This record gives sequence, C-alpha cells and structure tokens, in this order.
Amino acid sequence: MNILIVGNGGREHAIAWKIRKDDPNAKLFCAPGNAGTAAIAENLPIQADNIKGIVKWTVENKPDLTVVGPEVPLCLGLVDELTKRGLPAFGPSKAAAQMEGSKKFAKEVMTAAQVPTARSTIARTEAEARAAVADLGIPVVLKADGLAAGKGVSVCTTPAEIDEAIKTFFVERSFGDAGAEVLVEEFLVGEEASILAFVDGNTVIPLASAQDHKRLLNDDKGPNTGGMGSYSPAPCVTPDLLAVIQSQVFKPVVEELNMRGIKYKGILYAGIMLTKNGPKVLEFNCRFGDPETQSILPRMESSLVDAMFACINGTLADSKVSWSKDSCVCVVMVSGGYPGRYEKGIPIDGLEEASKVEGVTVFHAGTKRLNDMVVTCGGRVLGVTATASALAEAVSRAYQGVLKIRFTDADYRTDIAQRALRKKEQK
Ligand code: AMP
Ligand code: GLY
Repeated sequence: MNILIVGNGGREHAIAWKIRKDDPNAKLFCAPGNAGTAAIAENLPIQADNIKGIVKWTVENKPDLTVVGPEVPLCLGLVDELTKRGLPAFGPSKAAAQMEGSKKFAKEVMTAAQVPTARSTIARTEAEARAAVADLGIPVVLKADGLAAGKGVSVCTTPAEIDEAIKTFFVERSFGDAGAEVLVEEFLVGEEASILAFVDGNTVIPLASAQDHKRLLNDDKGPNTGGMGSYSPAPCVTPDLLAVIQSQVFKPVVEELNMRGIKYKGILYAGIMLTKNGPKVLEFNCRFGDPETQSILPRMESSLVDAMFACINGTLADSKVSWSKDSCVCVVMVSGGYPGRYEKGIPIDGLEEASKVEGVTVFHAGTKRLNDMVVTCGGRVLGVTATASALAEAVSRAYQGVLKIRFTDADYRTDIAQRALRKKEQK
C-alpha cells in the first residue's frame, strides 16, 4: 500500500512510525517530512500548505491513502480536492475543519448543540471588546476567530494584559483577517485534558486520553508554546468522565454538524477544562494533537490505517480500536530561545544512543538531514517518547533518552507527567 502523509512535525513522524509498525511493507511518502520520517519514508519537497503541489503529486502517483496532519491544509480544503478526484484522504472537509478554523463557528455549533463551554461574545471593535470584558470580569480570555498558529489566545489576568491584548488584536492587527473578529470568553478554572476521537460522519470512537504541557517552564510557568511534552493516559479522564464527554460533547456536535449538512470525518480533538461544574470545551481542533499524538499512538494496538479507512468509508461502527495498558510519555526538546527567536542548523548528537534505551522512540519535529548529520531546523526539535507498564518507569526512560541527546542550547522541561504522578500518589 502507498500512503502519503502531509506535514513535517512530530505528529507526522509518529503517524508514519505507527503505519510502518502496522504494515512493514507499506510504501510511505511525507510532504515534506523531516529527518525522522526520512528514515522510514520518502520525503517529498512539497510544503504541507502547497495544495496545488500535493494535488498534482497525488494525481500522478495515486496513493491508496493520503493522511493530512496539520490544520492549515485541512482548512484550505485539501481533503475536498483529493476526494473529488477519487483519491482516499483522511481528515475533515474544509466545511468540517471550521471547527478549528473558526472559533466563532465552533461556538455557534456548541451553543446550538447545547455543549458545555465558556460563555463568550464576539467583538469586532475595541469598544465591543471592552464592553464584553466589563460584562465577563477579569480574568478573561481573548481569542482570534481564525487560525493563528497557536498564538491567537490571550489569557488576561490584569487590566494591563487586557490593554496589551486589545492593542495586539485591534490596533496592531497582528493576526490580520484571522483576528478581525475576537471571541471574548469567560475564564475557566480546572485541569485540562485532550480527548481525540475518530469520527466517520456519524459514529465517534475516542482515542486513549492524553494531557499536554503547554507552558515553556516547569510548574506550568512561562509563555505558551506548541507543547513541551505529553503523556497518555490522563489519570483525570475516568471512564465515567469519558462517557459524559461522549454524550455531552462529541455526539451532539456531530449531530449538529449533520443537521447543517456537514459530515465530519477524521479526528475531532476536544480540548476540555475539567471544571468543578463538569467538563467544558475550551477549543476544538480538526486534527491529531501535537505532542499528544506522540504519546497516544505508541499505545494503539489495532491498526491506524484500518481506523482511518473506517472513518473515510463510514464503517467505524463495525471497527474495533484497542489500546495497550502501558503508559507513554513524550518529552519535547526545543531550541534555546523558543518560542521566541532561535538558531537553526545546529548538529544533533546521540539520537541512536537514545533510541537504544528500553522503550524509547525519538520522534523528530524540527530536524533535517545535512550531508550525514541531523541538524535542527525548528523550535520544537524532538519528542523523546517512552512506554512502560508504569507511568513512573515511562518518565524515567524518556529522561534517560533525553540525557543521551546533545545539541547546543537544547532546552526541555524536567517535570513532564509529574502532575499525573502526584495524582497517582494521592490515590
Ligand atoms: P488554545 O490556543 O485555544 O489551545 O488555548 C491556549 C490555552 O489557553 C489553553 O490550553 C488554555 O490553557 C487556555 N485557555 C483557553 N481558553 C480558556 C478559558 N476559557 N479559560 C481558561 N483558560 C483558557
Ligand atoms: N497540543 C495542542 C494542539 O495540538 O493543538
């Protein structure tokens, strides 16, 4: 089977790795991939948001399946372009991807489907935003309606932070059209969990639960990042809670979308705040999470490709998706300076030694091959991932792997999964 994976992050390396594990004979291609995918797939010099380039390649090469990783090509309608040419593609259509592409659209769907979420108002001007803030009180959250590469959310805890956010959105217009409309949202308190689900238009099957660490520094301090680490399962997501999320979030959303003539097929990712009044949705993503995928897929026992075809063909109700009882932890190693400015092209040593640690797999993100070296080429560089029967052992293995890897100014958090370990101890 020939499979194209679109994207170049840790998520796409994990997807390629899992497909290769399920089907050692599959021929894999990545557009554009990274140094990690180059070892198990053929990297193509086509960027993930180059819709025309990807369509041209798929028309010429007719892969049996195209898996679209990132939100940008999904929101640009890549899956629609492939589907109408008879090429099987995994991921939501452009209309369905609005669940991530427009926070306003997602809020409208949630409101219509009575899904628990934070109260919010849409503001188009500074005056409207200030009126909404006055109504909701401080802290408050301001969110760009459209895609903003993970930078469109401002959690404001002081009047000065509100002034700063309003300046970014309405004066500097830092997000362009994506920030022309701003959601002003009630601040929610609680623990966050990521629940991803396979959806085939009707049936929803949740994946194993996960939590990520979004802040740069230990103890969830410092600026927001694309994700500094993750672990699966998330101990706070009990089977009872999962049943509530299934009946109060996924089912009504998929039904509401159907009523609007939109069939959601692919991964639907719900970012959930576990408040004292029950789970509430913070956001939806239209794709696998990064770095959650790196700690979820190593626990998947059944075939990922089968689950993807079941989503495409609408046969998920007849599928079985199974998970190992192991725990999995992913520690993200980043370039010094990230999420601000950082250098690229720094040689990375110790990758092979790290992979020899029991249970460890190193997923690449911002890496590329340069002659016979692997060098950095992004902020998030590697996801050092480990599985073990106990969470504490998985953490220990992941950090043993991290310690084998060296590149100048490498940075990482040293407390990944500590929150979950504390929870286990309390029990
Ligand atoms: P997002 O970019 O939508 O994932 O949001 C980034 C982060 O902002 C989330 O992971 C939360 O930690 C935080 N956040 C978003 N919305 C809210 C909210 N309504 N209340 C509290 N925190 C929020
Ligand atoms: N880990 C958060 C995301 O994938 O958006």
